[in-house]
Amino acid sequence: MRKGEISASMMCSDLVNLKETLKIFEDEGVEYLHIDMMDGIFVPNFGLGVDYIRSIRELTSIPLDLHMMIKDPEYKFQWIGIKETDIVSVHYESTFQVQRALDFLQPYGCKRFLAINPATPISALEEVLDYIDGINILMVNPGFAGQKMVPSTVRKVQKISEMLRGEKHTDIIMEVDGNITPENASMLRQFGASIFVAGTSSIFKGGIEHYKNNIEVLRRAIA
Ligand code: DX5
Ligand code: ZN
Repeated sequence: MRKGEISASMMCSDLVNLKETLKIFEDEGVEYLHIDMMDGIFVPNFGLGVDYIRSIRELTSIPLDLHMMIKDPEYKFQWIGIKETDIVSVHYESTFQVQRALDFLQPYGCKRFLAINPATPISALEEVLDYIDGINILMVNPGFAGQKMVPSTVRKVQKISEMLRGEKHTDIIMEVDGNITPENASMLRQFGASIFVAGTSSIFKGGIEHYKNNIEVLRRAIA
């Protein structure tokens, strides 16, 4: 089984303590910084944009996990300075031509993930399995931190895992995003998830003085 990795959800971080927060993440070996890009159209909220991404690159070398919750993301890849070590997730529901979007991503050499909303059936994945490195499975309707998991998504993670086995595509990484408490993480780990988006449900609980311990608790849950 792939090792369990943490992707810290930066929309939950306190900007005032950003440098100190990143130092803790580096010391604790957090694998990715999850960047929720939101345009107020694809999701009902605005979020981390181009300037934020540029600044965070100057503060740390932790790879970015860019979750593009924007309409027609394929025309904006060149704005964000994608690196080979990054993950870029595009939403199945965000463009009429998701396969083209995945093709446009290829020259960047990053990991290409397809993100799917809670109500999107897993059949949406079927025709793109050859063009992706991973699936970002939304456990909440995206746009806001601090929501409760949509119950049907748990069974869905199981179904995706079965489908990947059936299609001989167990190389495809499963990421889970939304309400990932340590308990939910360890349950989803059993179904094969290996990247865990960590927000207010886990590592950002309490103030910055709790982050180190929170990370260690989550690490144990996904070991
Ligand atoms: C959705 C976001 C949120 C959030 C995760 O794309 O990634 O789900 O930041 O943190 P929670 O749900 O734990 O507040
Ligand atoms: Zn996200």
